[in-house]
Amino acid sequence: MLRKPTDLFQGVSFEELANRFGTPLYLYDESLIRSQCQLFQTTFQHPRVPSEVLYASKAFLTKAMVRLIQEEGLSLDVVSGGELYTALQVGFPAQHIFFHGNNKSQTELQEALDAHVGTMIVDHATELELLVSLLPPASKQRVMLRVNPGIEAHTHEYIKTTKNDSKFGVSIYQKQTLELIQAMASHPNIDFVGLHSHIGSQIFEESSFLEHSKVLLNFVKQILTETQVVIKEINLGGGFGVRYTAEDHVFPLSPLLETLLDTVYQESLRLNIAIPKVLIEPGRAIVGEAGCTLYQVGSTKQTINGKNYLMVDGSMADHIRTALYQAKYDASLLSHRDINKTLSYTVAGKACESGDIIIHSITLPEAQRGDYLLVYSTGAYHYSMSSNYNRLTRPAVVFVKDGTARTVVRKETYTDVLQNDIDEVE
Ligand code: LLP
Repeated sequence: MLRKPTDLFQGVSFEELANRFGTPLYLYDESLIRSQCQLFQTTFQHPRVPSEVLYASKAFLTKAMVRLIQEEGLSLDVVSGGELYTALQVGFPAQHIFFHGNNKSQTELQEALDAHVGTMIVDHATELELLVSLLPPASKQRVMLRVNPGIEAHTHEYIKTTKNDSKFGVSIYQKQTLELIQAMASHPNIDFVGLHSHIGSQIFEESSFLEHSKVLLNFVKQILTETQVVIKEINLGGGFGVRYTAEDHVFPLSPLLETLLDTVYQESLRLNIAIPKVLIEPGRAIVGEAGCTLYQVGSTKQTINGKNYLMVDGSMADHIRTALYQAKYDASLLSHRDINKTLSYTVAGKACESGDIIIHSITLPEAQRGDYLLVYSTGAYHYSMSSNYNRLTRPAVVFVKDGTARTVVRKETYTDVLQNDIDEVE
């Protein structure tokens, strides 16, 4: 166990939170989300390099989160019509939205254009053709191109996005990419501003980020030499690792962010190219450690070969990352019994699947039905990847700040789960 169990979450007792909102429950420390936003905003700065921070909304998006991002002054990265719609519903300024995605539908492209989304990130040539066919005659759309620099960040195989066979973007090593850039730069309805690339997620090697910026800048130089197109902006994506367990050796963000911009500055001087504006789009690093999930223990049992299961009232439907990525988590049992009497547990959910495991192995005080279990660092890619598997209802999402808890997403009901089912008897 990494963290010390406490009775309070930002001034509110877990017991009260469980009674008021039910379990399982997604809890967020709102002040921590805000301070992470501010950390990126204040330290991703350089006197000679213009910069901008976007929040990658795929990590966690609700209307309340959009409002928070707007209040903190970040721009927004969306990857679907649904994320775009969420942002627009609460009046997020469209010019500060960046629309990503490797296979945007015609409808999504049209929705983005109708809303006057600030920047479209084109993934490949066919998408460019589609986008161009939809652009109004006298318009000028800001566009970036998603490129694949072929860098392999040291992270989980499934979330590595820039291997040469990645589905995202176009390789910087392909001749056609330069032709695509030329086509965009010379199109009357396109304001081609630059390149976007993302080397993966949950990255701990600072060198990967620096290497990434250097490779991109070398490509910027090549573009200039071979096509005379000036790249004004580069978006380096997200990927900053967060701490799930004591095994995760997180680096301090501020020095890396400063070094990253300085690397861009030095490298641009060395290559004799115009210093581009640099954008980054963290998701996990903004919300990951600010969130936790509160479960109630249903029961415990020991298998014939001595494995101790601790079974909670949630499941892989609200916590998929262990099953999907073999991700590891830390947790605390919130009980007032003898905390020195411990057992090694496998924390399992209630879904009808053997793979429905939340934590494979953790030492906890001996648990009983009715105890609460708090799983840490579930703020990113948990609510956003949740499902209704087994027709389970999604938990509520609650923001807590200075002793006050507020629901930002209410707990689903059975009626919600059935709302799109068609009644055969009409
Ligand atoms: N920008 C782009 C283009 C991305 O594809 C991603 C993440 C991000 C930014 C944000 O990356 P972050 O800062 O959150 O690492 N579901 C997986 C993560 C998938 C990440 C996909 N792209 C997980 O639960 O680990």
